[in-house]
Amino acid sequence: MSECKLAILGITGSIGSQTVQVAQHLGCDIVAASAGRRIEKLQALKDTLGIGVIYSPYGNFDRKAFEEAVYSADAIMVATSDVSEMPFVLKLLEDGKRVAIATKEMLVLGHDLFAPYRWKNLYPVDSEHATVYMLMKPYISLVKEVYLTASGGAFRDLSLNEIDNLSPKDALKHPVWSMGYKITVDSATLANKGIELLEARVLFDIPPSKLKAVMHREVIVHAMVVLHDNFTLMGAYKPSMLLPIQFSLTYPDLKESLLKPISWHGQTLHFEDIPTDKYGMYKLAIDVLNTDDKKLYMLYLIADDIVVERYMKEEIRFSQMPWLAEKIIDTLSENNIPYQPEERIFWYRQMKERAKEVAI
Ligand SMILES: NC(=O)c1ccc[n+]([C@@H]2O[C@H](COP(=O)([O-])OP(=O)(O)OC[C@H]3O[C@@H](n4cnc5c(N)ncnc54)[C@H](OP(=O)(O)O)[C@@H]3O)[C@@H](O)[C@H]2O)c1
Repeated sequence: MSECKLAILGITGSIGSQTVQVAQHLGCDIVAASAGRRIEKLQALKDTLGIGVIYSPYGNFDRKAFEEAVYSADAIMVATSDVSEMPFVLKLLEDGKRVAIATKEMLVLGHDLFAPYRWKNLYPVDSEHATVYMLMKPYISLVKEVYLTASGGAFRDLSLNEIDNLSPKDALKHPVWSMGYKITVDSATLANKGIELLEARVLFDIPPSKLKAVMHREVIVHAMVVLHDNFTLMGAYKPSMLLPIQFSLTYPDLKESLLKPISWHGQTLHFEDIPTDKYGMYKLAIDVLNTDDKKLYMLYLIADDIVVERYMKEEIRFSQMPWLAEKIIDTLSENNIPYQPEERIFWYRQMKERAKEVAI
């Protein structure tokens, strides 16, 4: 008899596959799983892992059976690269199911709709946010400041001029993490850290002025929480998503994880300011954060998608990304986010199309 039942939305992706590893480690059954267009891979996973019910919007699958199987899970991992499951995810939360969300776009697009489940049945998956959650939970009303750490990405030791003379492929050589191309480029521009600050604002309801990021090249401390008396809590573990994924599925039950402990003997830790003149995408995210306008948060994510695409096609240089992103945000900023989840998804898709036109 298995100890637990899990559902994984986006099982064929990077977070999805690592969730499978965690599920196997915990001895959990995967009762439901979904994917996008890679249906053969999804089917193969069903056969090898004995998944109960699978689903993809691009194939002929029984949606009702899938939703029933998801409801039978003890915890649901949401790791899709797309936001279309947001209404279903909100329904699961409303019905009291435990939901772990990795999908940044969904969290930012749904911001206020997710607020009722904060500190309840909604769990962050991203390493920095999972760490903030662990540190903050016993002291929610006593928090003075929250710091997220940034590795600095592939270009951390280069000047802006040097970066502009490199190929975008060099942005894919992340010094610490192995991830998909979009998130790796976002690490090189530090847009990822900016997006994580926006995500933290949404997840924890911390005022923008209390949310900070620092460069930390060892990537051992993932976040810090400063309490009212200036006592600082630091959350440290080896850089890996396996621990935050497990946390999101089991907290407050802390089980043995797949991660080896840090050897602290001789370990040094460095923290540096982030040079905003070099990391223009990060600076733009801070400006957006400080407006506290969630519509602009979402437009930042959309603009970032577009500028990364243009950069990877070598149509713009690294130093031109913030300029183009700002132009997209400014042009689309008149368009307010509607309230209903389905309408929000439509709005999001519409804004993405409009953003492509602005970027031509
Ligand atoms: N990778 C990381 O380390 C990391 C860390 C923190 C947060 N995140 C966030 O977590 C999310 C997922 O990241 P990832 O790196 O795992 O992405 P990924 O490798 O691109 O995987 C995305 C997954 O979503 C599936 N998918 C796409 N559209 C779908 C749909 N309509 N219905 C169901 N499944 C769908 C994909 O299926 P197909 O394979 O069929 O396309 C795939 O399984 C992103 O928002 C990312 O920013 C990632």
